[in-house]
Amino acid sequence: MTEEDFQILIDFHVKANRQGPGSDAETEKALSFTALDFTKPLKVADIGCGSGAQTFALANSLENAEIIAVDLFNEFLKELNLKAIQNNYDNRIITRQESMDQLSLEEGEFDLIWSEGAIYNIGFKKGLAEWKKYLKEGGYIAVSEITWLTNTRPSEIDEYWNNAYPEIDTSSNKMKVIEELGYQPVGYFPLREESWMNNYYGPIEDRFASFLEDKSHSEKAVNLVAQEKGEIEMYQKFKDYYSYGFYIAKKV
Ligand SMILES: C[S@@+](CC[C@H](N)C(=O)[O-])C[C@H]1O[C@@H](n2cnc3c(N)ncnc32)[C@H](O)[C@@H]1O
Repeated sequence: MTEEDFQILIDFHVKANRQGPGSDAETEKALSFTALDFTKPLKVADIGCGSGAQTFALANSLENAEIIAVDLFNEFLKELNLKAIQNNYDNRIITRQESMDQLSLEEGEFDLIWSEGAIYNIGFKKGLAEWKKYLKEGGYIAVSEITWLTNTRPSEIDEYWNNAYPEIDTSSNKMKVIEELGYQPVGYFPLREESWMNNYYGPIEDRFASFLEDKSHSEKAVNLVAQEKGEIEMYQKFKDYYSYGFYIAKKV
């Protein structure tokens, strides 16, 4: 992708509440699989945080935690910092602009590593393998990752996802990867349809008209909207076959 392609994607998503499917309830549910003491001054990293939907859910639940929120794009971090100041979280949420495959985090520093809808940028296996060193022994990792919900599926959706992200797999195969990397899986659940439609695709559809107007119906803007519409149609047609799966595991 060119810099211009990235910029138009950022412009479309930056003002949204979240940049991927999910919900506060599911962030809290994933947290509940850990045996962490939520009152302790935990150290947390939120990797690929976007504008911080899950960062604030984590900060609400983990009342004394310090959260390092990492993203490649400063535009998202600026939004996150603004919300942190508005909600008096700026003393506990620290943003860092860096790439998830070149993190400047300290080894053995974290009680919890979080990543919602973002690990695919370097791949599930690579991300889990590389990030393990930043966790303390007994620390937890929680990531959401696109996952097949059934063992077989229509070829149209199989080809679509295998082209977009060849690492897509069933939860049982993802669990195997987790175990092979030396983690103990402690929980898995797929995101609900509402977390896609109400929290992500619905707000995207609401933004199409104003975005096209802001961009004077430029070719890039029209193409982006067409691509987003195609993705939503795919989801509506084949939602019984895939979702984001939330995987929670302990470093052992
Ligand atoms: C689908 S969004 C999810 C954002 C957020 N976690 C959420 O659920 O709302 C993926 C995020 O990963 C970030 N990202 C992409 N490549 C990255 C990289 N190499 N390092 C860090 N962040 C990256 C994007 O900027 C974006 O914010």
